[in-house]
Amino acid sequence: MWLLSLLAATSLVVLANASQDESKGRPHELLIYRDQHSAECTFASLKTVQGYRELATYGNLGNEALSDVEERLRFVQQHRDEAWLQLLQFCGPEDSWNFPVLTDIKRSVLLDYGGTTEQDAFAVPEPARGFFPLEFELEPLVKSGHSSNRVDLIFFADGYTRDERDKFIEDAYRLAMDISSNQTFYTVKPLLNFWAAFTPSVESGVGTDGKPKDTPFGLYRDGTELRGVYYAKPEIARAACFYFEDKCDYPVLMGNDPLYGGLGGEFTVITPSLANGALVLRHELGHSIIDVGEEYDGGPDYFGVNAHHNISEPIPWAHWFTNASRARHQHEDGADADVRVERSVMPMQAYPWTMLNTSEPWSITFNSSGAYSRHLVRFSLSGLPEAEELKVEIDGEELGWTPRVDIGVDRWHYDIHRDAALSAGAHEVKFTLVNGDREGIAQLCSVEVLEFGNEAEFISAPGYHGVFPTFSDVNETTYRPTNEDCLMRIVTTPNFCKVCLEGLWMALLRRVDLIDDMRASCIRKGREWTRRIELDLVPLGQFREEPVDVKESYSIVWMKDGQMLEQFTDEKTVEIADGDAAGVYTAHVQYLTEEVRVDKAGLTKSQRQYRVAGSCEELPM
Ligand SMILES: *[C@@H]1O[C@H](CO)[C@@H](O)[C@H](O)[C@H]1NC(C)=O
Ligand SMILES: *[C@@H]1O[C@H](CO)[C@@H](O)[C@H](O)[C@H]1NC(C)=O
Ligand SMILES: *[C@@H]1O[C@H](CO)[C@@H](O)[C@H](O)[C@H]1NC(C)=O
Ligand SMILES: *[C@@H]1O[C@H](CO)[C@@H](O)[C@H](O)[C@H]1NC(C)=O
Ligand SMILES: *[C@@H]1O[C@H](CO)[C@@H](O)[C@H](O)[C@H]1NC(C)=O
Ligand SMILES: *[C@@H]1O[C@H](CO)[C@@H](O)[C@H](O)[C@H]1NC(C)=O
Repeated sequence: MWLLSLLAATSLVVLANASQDESKGRPHELLIYRDQHSAECTFASLKTVQGYRELATYGNLGNEALSDVEERLRFVQQHRDEAWLQLLQFCGPEDSWNFPVLTDIKRSVLLDYGGTTEQDAFAVPEPARGFFPLEFELEPLVKSGHSSNRVDLIFFADGYTRDERDKFIEDAYRLAMDISSNQTFYTVKPLLNFWAAFTPSVESGVGTDGKPKDTPFGLYRDGTELRGVYYAKPEIARAACFYFEDKCDYPVLMGNDPLYGGLGGEFTVITPSLANGALVLRHELGHSIIDVGEEYDGGPDYFGVNAHHNISEPIPWAHWFTNASRARHQHEDGADADVRVERSVMPMQAYPWTMLNTSEPWSITFNSSGAYSRHLVRFSLSGLPEAEELKVEIDGEELGWTPRVDIGVDRWHYDIHRDAALSAGAHEVKFTLVNGDREGIAQLCSVEVLEFGNEAEFISAPGYHGVFPTFSDVNETTYRPTNEDCLMRIVTTPNFCKVCLEGLWMALLRRVDLIDDMRASCIRKGREWTRRIELDLVPLGQFREEPVDVKESYSIVWMKDGQMLEQFTDEKTVEIADGDAAGVYTAHVQYLTEEVRVDKAGLTKSQRQYRVAGSCEELPM
């Protein structure tokens, strides 16, 4: 058996483990990391997770390339033994393993701390054994229910020293609130838990120039410019996530740096930047929770509920079209229907990520067809707090750029709409740094020009759902549902479009059952006993604690031995005189919300049964 060397440098205090009872009947998630080419396993973990509806055959949830070399396979199996066999199938017999395996299966615990009991598998190795202790303090930020029936997001601290513990909790709390109190995830909040897991770093902040500081996950930037933030210790992050079990569905590594930066993928990496933290967080969570690609232009990958590739095939979000006659056209005429695509083209797009200097402006030329009546110059910058410090021009004409108020040196996105046609032929966009003191910090991150037809040809109005073209990094066209309603396209927007929101509900309801529990009790009224049967529901609709501005309700139908109990319709509780109570009770629950129009898999429905046998008198008091 192989000793887990990466964890030999680690100890983890787990403050809350699911007890054996809670994990009964729940499925198991197997993660296998391996070399894409040689298929050799490099890391594996197997843990109990919350329920899964619509599980794919053999529980395979797919492969994800983590880098050019490594890929991650993810399986969810109802039975541990099956998952274990799968692990053996992919990675060979146990005695051949030379990579870390994290598992809570008693007989196969590979976390060899020298412990002998099952408890020891989770226990903290003695720092005296020469291990560097990594302790976590777990703090609930927003808790809506037990993690066995919720989707859980967890913030991990990186670059926060022991003295900065309160700052970490405040940063995490602010971000959790930003994305769940009145926007983005606010309507699905009762399906989510947010946690903060603090562990002190020796050094404060995130590393630069490719060098991590002395921190648990080793977050760093490539240079000093505001761009990606990477992690040097994925194994530690995986182990930490494993230890928090079903509290770690979506791990977020937060690097203690006030300015823009982040990364999507296996771990969402963010900073608590006041301007950008929430923006990066909700966009990356959109990718990972809804499982969608980009919506902005110039990306490599477009997939999921908000992306369509072939205009001759039915549009999957036709049920969200603002102009219903366009949807009807399609159903009747089938594949050949003439679906209207809003008229737009992208004549130029670039991600320079370049430092600006005063000796030479950064410029780019492009050709316009001259066939569109409006255009937009879109760009993002950092390190430029004052308008006087930078000139932005198109064909020598200043665009009148002004920085976002209070942005300081952080990154921000700018849109300059111009209600005029670009003439046919060549054009130039030019960025001139005026203030030399900003050299080495002033950065041009991205720049794009879009051209649009007039409002009859291209409906730009917010809320309009139709078919809009998106242009990839190689100028291939895919289609999206709205112009700029979605934070997957416009990262500064706090909300999803309706199509993504429906996808979000579906993704979450695959993991969360609307019924938390069903229980029965006996109550005495005067001399008589009454049997009470109660449903604990995820608090949505009429049972929501914080009302939302969305039409929604639960419909609840009770049956007893196949007969409907009409008087209890839409009630969470049934009360029946004890003498008449024996029988099988079934509650049929459906959640209706205007945010979901099509639910093919029936995820907005749930039912549960309870058998009442005997009478209250017979129960031990
Ligand atoms: C949510 O609250 C924040 C902070 O109070 C506010 O800036 C924002 O406009 C609100 N959003 C909505 C959709 O009400
Ligand atoms: C697009 O869909 C049509 C209709 O199904 C099909 O005939 C055509 O081959 C598809 N085009 C591509 C590029 O896949
Ligand atoms: C709705 O779409 C149809 C078909 O494309 C079009 O003729 C009609 O003008 C549109 N209605 C509105 C209100 O935009
Ligand atoms: C993308 O393709 C369109 C249509 O062919 C063209 O007009 C446009 O200039 C191209 N844009 C870029 C950036 O190549
Ligand atoms: C100044 O910026 C221009 C445009 O990005 C670039 O071509 C040039 O190499 C830079 N000069 C220096 C000295 O960095
Ligand atoms: C613009 O069009 C001209 C003439 O067709 C061509 O020579 C030039 O390469 C084009 N420029 C760009 C940036 O595509």
